[in-house]
Amino acid sequence: MKIAFAASECVPFVKTGGLADVVGSLPKALAALGHEVCVFLPLYQSIAVDEHDLHALDTLRGLAVRIGDQAVTFDVWAGPLPDSDVAVFLIDCPAYFHRPYVYSNDADEAERFILFQHGVLHTMQHLAWAPDVLHGHDWQAGLLPVFLRHPYAWDRLFTETATLYTIHNIGYQGRFHEAAVYTAGLSYEHYHPGGPFEFHDSFCFMKTGVVYADAVSTVSPTYAREIQTPEGGAGLDGVLRTRSADLHGILNGIDPTIWHPVHDALLPTNYDARTLDLKAENKKALLAEVGLPFDERTPVVGIIARFTGQKGFELLQPILADVLQQRRVQFVVLGSGEDHLERFFQWAADAFPERVAVYLGYNDRLSHLIEAGADLFLMPSAYEPCGLNQMYSLTYGTLPLVRRTGGLADTVRDYHAHRDAGNGFSFDDFTPYALYTTLNRALEVFEDLAAWRALQLRGMAEDFSWDVSAQKYAALYAQLAARKRTG
Ligand code: ADP
Ligand code: GLC
Repeated sequence: MKIAFAASECVPFVKTGGLADVVGSLPKALAALGHEVCVFLPLYQSIAVDEHDLHALDTLRGLAVRIGDQAVTFDVWAGPLPDSDVAVFLIDCPAYFHRPYVYSNDADEAERFILFQHGVLHTMQHLAWAPDVLHGHDWQAGLLPVFLRHPYAWDRLFTETATLYTIHNIGYQGRFHEAAVYTAGLSYEHYHPGGPFEFHDSFCFMKTGVVYADAVSTVSPTYAREIQTPEGGAGLDGVLRTRSADLHGILNGIDPTIWHPVHDALLPTNYDARTLDLKAENKKALLAEVGLPFDERTPVVGIIARFTGQKGFELLQPILADVLQQRRVQFVVLGSGEDHLERFFQWAADAFPERVAVYLGYNDRLSHLIEAGADLFLMPSAYEPCGLNQMYSLTYGTLPLVRRTGGLADTVRDYHAHRDAGNGFSFDDFTPYALYTTLNRALEVFEDLAAWRALQLRGMAEDFSWDVSAQKYAALYAQLAARKRTG
């Protein structure tokens, strides 16, 4: 089958979070199953075209699109997704994408991704190529299904193109002023209270994707259930329930060429389950790098995250000082985001200079070193559609401590509830107390070398590769394509 991805992030070109890992790895797994796969991305200023072997396509220069009243032109670049047969097409429109950030609150944020989505379909028209399934990701690709049903419906190229729309995070819905309906080239006929485009007085790209796509998916089975409830649906639960027959929860996989301790090119010392003692070399290197004293028997808790409310660090704020005063433990924190969380972690590092180290910012190499060097990995998320770091942690023999929500509930089994089958630690209540007691439980188990080692080995033996999930996507694509062909 021919599959086209459209998304705003993709490893190794541009990454702010897990979306990039997924868009950089699922296409490779699908190609390995024999499918023809390509990926469409915006060409951001930050993408180093030389480094990634990208080139402008001579026949696709100066393509024109109407964005509201303006005629906007763009070029198309292309190149390979490394280590694969997957082609990547990049929509190059400097006026929108040559900015020092990927996402923004700029007045033309809607326009940027409207141009991107028209760019995807215009490129296909110029190449006279259409996929069997157009697979869009998150709000930045939410309009593609309605574009195919309305402004592009005349073009027979797309008659047999089915659409799948994947929600990676319902907290980011792409909501804009109703004027963006016109900017997108759509009709106001569908913009009215409760209508397919409208959500709380805004034009909502994510809702539009949910309504018009042939099928909708999200990135874990538990999250697929949660987003259909008022607690987890961020207001879109009603419309998601109307699509429940076509709503699929497929767990993300991980790319073992990038995230496996035996292959990881960014680690000072590679290891696997048989050479697990070498993990300590990475712990030593990590602590040296962040300037903390090393002691093998002092557990290190790792944190790598976007600092937003989603990630649940408000639970850590009231308890961290107590934990540090009562327990022998160190924390290594990597992330950036909301000011108050950056200030909190910086305060902890200043107050406990031998126990807490913080790197504020984005650092890919350090993120690998934390996964390999830490003993525990903390994800107390308020909600988590899938989460990748707990799967990286399990693969690296680093025990995840998570709140039981979304994809975390689908991947981490609490040691105390499943003594012979556990692979980490988890808690239910979104309270500092629940985190506190779970952290204490974990730190006690750390004292028991044999129990800890058994937990590590159980996680490392699990298979989080894309093998299973890529087959699930392939089966879904086949079903959607067949439905499209038979009308
Ligand atoms: P989300 O997509 O919600 O941020 P995920 O767990 O799915 O959460 O994925 C986050 C990805 O981004 C992981 O690969 C993680 O290692 C990476 N990451 C997050 N923050 C940073 C950072 N500050 N530096 C390097 N990598 C980061
Ligand atoms: C989102 C979610 C995260 C998920 C990632 C990739 O950013 O917050 O849980 O793993 O997308 O699907």
